[in-house]
Amino acid sequence: MSSRGYNAEFRSTLARVRAGDNVTRDDLALLLEAPEGEAQDVLHAVAYEVKSREVGRVVYLRGLIEMSNVCRRNCNYCGIRRDNRDVDRFTLTAKEIVAGAVRAHKFGYGSVVLQGGERQDPGHIAFITDILARIHAATRHELAITLSLGEQTEETYRRWREAGAHRYLLRMETTDADLYLALHPDDPDRESRRRCLDFLRDEGYHVGTGVMIGLPGQTTQHLAEDLLFFRDQDVDMIGMGPFIPHDDTPLGGHAAGFDGDRQVQLGLNMIACTRLLLPNANIASTTALQALHDRGRELGLLAGGNVIMPNVTDTKFRAAYQLYNGKPSLQENAAQTRLKLDAAIARIGETIGYGEKGHAPRALTRRNETVLKD
Ligand code: 5AD
Repeated sequence: MSSRGYNAEFRSTLARVRAGDNVTRDDLALLLEAPEGEAQDVLHAVAYEVKSREVGRVVYLRGLIEMSNVCRRNCNYCGIRRDNRDVDRFTLTAKEIVAGAVRAHKFGYGSVVLQGGERQDPGHIAFITDILARIHAATRHELAITLSLGEQTEETYRRWREAGAHRYLLRMETTDADLYLALHPDDPDRESRRRCLDFLRDEGYHVGTGVMIGLPGQTTQHLAEDLLFFRDQDVDMIGMGPFIPHDDTPLGGHAAGFDGDRQVQLGLNMIACTRLLLPNANIASTTALQALHDRGRELGLLAGGNVIMPNVTDTKFRAAYQLYNGKPSLQENAAQTRLKLDAAIARIGETIGYGEKGHAPRALTRRNETVLKD
């Protein structure tokens, strides 16, 4: 463990990481361990400065549509894992999904995220293809559409891209082989997930990944590796948040002794370090932060995040889509969520990029992206 606190070593490491000068795993681990107080304040302030310069003090909102909790995976941390018999499984109809997208569009959110459990059957693939066309037709092609539907073949990714999906989120969850295996004993192939990120890039998506933070057995060295992976994989978007136990999962036992405050601090430090390594990426301040802290999302923005994904799913479906204990805003409808967010963002002196798709500047610097620039 490195020495902690706001000392000369911390300051010089921060300056070097900011400059992108020979950044090592140890450097990042040192920053991630910044304790609450001056060290953490300075880390977040520097990341905020980089964010302000690179992407502005503008928050982009993505309306999150949790479309189905049917999942073929059995991930040890996730509340909607296949073996959890205590979940009422649902899949929204095409009409309900399009209604969510239209709601987001009316609210002025420039973008939606369709998220659901992983399925690879032909019926599902065709369903999503159809939904994409319907959403575009119902919103005059004014929304950027992100999919978050797990691992698929390159052909499926191509089909969805051709049907109008612009972006794809696929978290690695962890880049460490042993941890990956411990989390996904039924599907232990970390490389197949990484390959999906390459497929997505080849198919012309804006690509997002991320990890969970504070997993059992995960160290700051692991997280530092994750950060280097984000940089080396050259992704456009990052979504990550603290791990939170879910009672009906194999990792549910970690609820005893769970230190939510530490998870939040580590989550914020991860956001700050990501901003330093990928200055012009879109970085989400995620719901899991909000689940552990009543100002979690704002703190994420102040540590370098610039994207929030408010739920636009009909309230009655929210309870069945619980990935972890204590999901926030279960009773709140989409309009209430919007009002609260508006006020919270104004309070920290930022504005919302209403009506804008909010592409990551990073993605727009790539070749062959003209289609996505409007
Ligand atoms: N705690 C925090 N995040 C979780 N996810 C799933 N289960 C949990 C949990 N228990 C995250 C995963 C997944 C995303 C949709 O939700 O990172 O990719």
